[in-house]
Amino acid sequence: MPAIPLTPGEVDSLCQRAAQAALHSYSPYSHFRVGAAILLHADEKQSGVVVAGTNVENASYRLTSCAEQAAIASAITQYGPQVRIRAVAVANLNGAACMPCGACRQTILEFAGAETAVFYPGADGEIVSTTLAELLPAGFRLLPQ
Ligand code: THU
Repeated sequence: MPAIPLTPGEVDSLCQRAAQAALHSYSPYSHFRVGAAILLHADEKQSGVVVAGTNVENASYRLTSCAEQAAIASAITQYGPQVRIRAVAVANLNGAACMPCGACRQTILEFAGAETAVFYPGADGEIVSTTLAELLPAGFRLLPQ
């Protein structure tokens, strides 16, 4: 199913929500303050809802949770297991390029499709617009039992 593109205003406000979430980043180890905002698919219960998350680090480094994962966990908690993601924006307060890491791409795929839009800051500070299919061309899928 072809995706309905977000308007420039929607992209802007999604990126702003991501940046806002990064203000709450718990990142005493990397000092890399990341935020993510996900736009949920409209249905009777979730019309245009945006849910945000930030990275939460841990002294045991591998327990760190990424901003995208925090946003998704929060969306499921608030709206239930049927959540579908229409778009994702990632931001950071470090002025760095920042695309979703591999683990986050796979986490997004669980609740999204090939055409799900992903926005992130590129090398020149511009917002790069892509799709999940481009970022994760052969993601793992397992049919729910
Ligand atoms: N981080 C994210 O929040 N999302 C990503 O997609 C990549 C990395 C966080 C994890 C860690 O707290 C910090 O950025 C540095 O890796």
